[in-house]
Amino acid sequence: MTHALFITFEGIDGSGKSTQARLLHDNLQSQGIDTVLTREPGGSPGAEEIRRLVLEGDPERWSAETEILLFTAARRDHLERLIEPSLAAGRTVICDRFADSTRMYQGLSRGNLRQKVDELHRLMIRREPDLTLLIDMDPETGLSRAKGRQGHEERFEDFGLGLQQRMRDGFLALAAEFPERFRIIDGDRSQEEVAAEVLSISRKALA
Ligand code: ADP
Ligand code: TYD
Repeated sequence: MTHALFITFEGIDGSGKSTQARLLHDNLQSQGIDTVLTREPGGSPGAEEIRRLVLEGDPERWSAETEILLFTAARRDHLERLIEPSLAAGRTVICDRFADSTRMYQGLSRGNLRQKVDELHRLMIRREPDLTLLIDMDPETGLSRAKGRQGHEERFEDFGLGLQQRMRDGFLALAAEFPERFRIIDGDRSQEEVAAEVLSISRKALA
């Protein structure tokens, strides 16, 4: 017997979150566990429209304060239309990034705005994941993997290595702040090794 969980992946760009979220989804599905795979920013039609606004274009396009509002607006739509209804139907939701990314990227990248992020979260989102898998890795390796993808969604990668380093340290501090739901996973291994640990932690949580 398993019960539905809300599982999120967090970590710096290129750490392997999307790869591992997909593998976990496939592995759980093949074991007969009903799961929904989704991502942020995005995951619902309206939130995917906001995704384009925040991930494309000049790094200076939006201030950190405006980004808090845009990412939270996208999250609210995603929560209302996909996450909450799926959990209510007994389906496990696997989400590539969630509110912890806003705590880091908008809360720490350009001054300390963490309190504003938390206040808006309390007002509009409230939900926290049951389990957060933090894929930790060296920022230089992560950034070179991310750059290797050659997409158009490079606004945050264009902030450079210094930002990735601060995000890595910030995520590790966040894991210490919420130890009951965070698990830290070493991302600097083969995809298969990382996936085996991710599956084992998730199965235990689902049991
Ligand atoms: P993220 O979603 O964290 O940005 P991705 O899953 O998109 O990361 O991975 C970034 C790139 O690195 C992709 O090209 C992916 O194929 C590759 N990759 C993912 N995991 C590994 C790994 N364990 N070892 C080497 N390359 C990896
Ligand atoms: P994502 O598509 O997960 O990028 P990657 O695969 O490179 O990790 O997310 C794109 C960017 O969006 C990423 O650089 C982090 C940023 N982001 C925020 O700044 N705040 C948020 O709340 C979220 C969800 C993402």
